[in-house]
Amino acid sequence: MTKGLFVSIEGIEGAGKSTLIEHLKKHAQFQSDTLFTREPGGTPIAEAIRKILVSREHSDMEAMTELLLVYASRQEHIRKVIEPELSAGKIVISDRFYDASYAYQAGGRHLDVDILAKLDDWVVQKTTPRLTILIKAPIQLCLDRVYSRGNQDRFDDESSPFFMAVQSMYTQRADRDPDRFLIVDGTQSPDEILDICVSKILSLRKL
Ligand SMILES: Nc1ncnc2c1ncn2[C@@H]1O[C@H](COP(=O)(O)OP(=O)(O)OP(=O)(O)O)[C@@H](O)[C@H]1O
Ligand SMILES: [Mg+2]
Repeated sequence: MTKGLFVSIEGIEGAGKSTLIEHLKKHAQFQSDTLFTREPGGTPIAEAIRKILVSREHSDMEAMTELLLVYASRQEHIRKVIEPELSAGKIVISDRFYDASYAYQAGGRHLDVDILAKLDDWVVQKTTPRLTILIKAPIQLCLDRVYSRGNQDRFDDESSPFFMAVQSMYTQRADRDPDRFLIVDGTQSPDEILDICVSKILSLRKL
């Protein structure tokens, strides 16, 4: 059994995941005993895979290739970082985790969810988040934020129907698993979002 607390943060591009993480990093409660990480990424191999995944040079990538690369990076991340840190009793907060595969590769790219469930049996196993914070905001607002921040990668180039499918899959998963998900209104200020998330994480930490 793991001793720590595993938290993932999800939402479409521009929802405010990285902004929330930056605020959490500065918060007094998370200065020690907390590891901040991200997917795809979190280890040298996983970060190298991330570069392949997000590169605009790879706009012709097969959806299945994308999925397998994400799970290859997740295998590295879970075994080398997430599980050891949880075993050491840490809070692990990840900018995206496996719900993003369902949202993007199943929702956005129409891959069969049964394939993802099989990959979860092999790769994720029992290392699932205790809490998943889903930041939700209107798609156009999120896309406007991304455009004003500056498009950064291959996923930022996708169209609004793609993000509608992604957000809809996120919502379906949250509705099916209300005990794990906290849905946060991403139109609130970063400070309001921070307060809600800090209270929730700390309430679980005490259990
Ligand atoms: N609650 C908020 N209110 C107003 N602006 C916000 C809020 N959260 C984030 N932003 C702004 O929106 C932009 C995108 O935010 P951020 O980079 O945190 O999104 P993200 O979810 O991490 O996106 P990505 O998936 O592309 O990494 C940034 O310029 C950020 O300053
Ligand atoms: Mg981000």
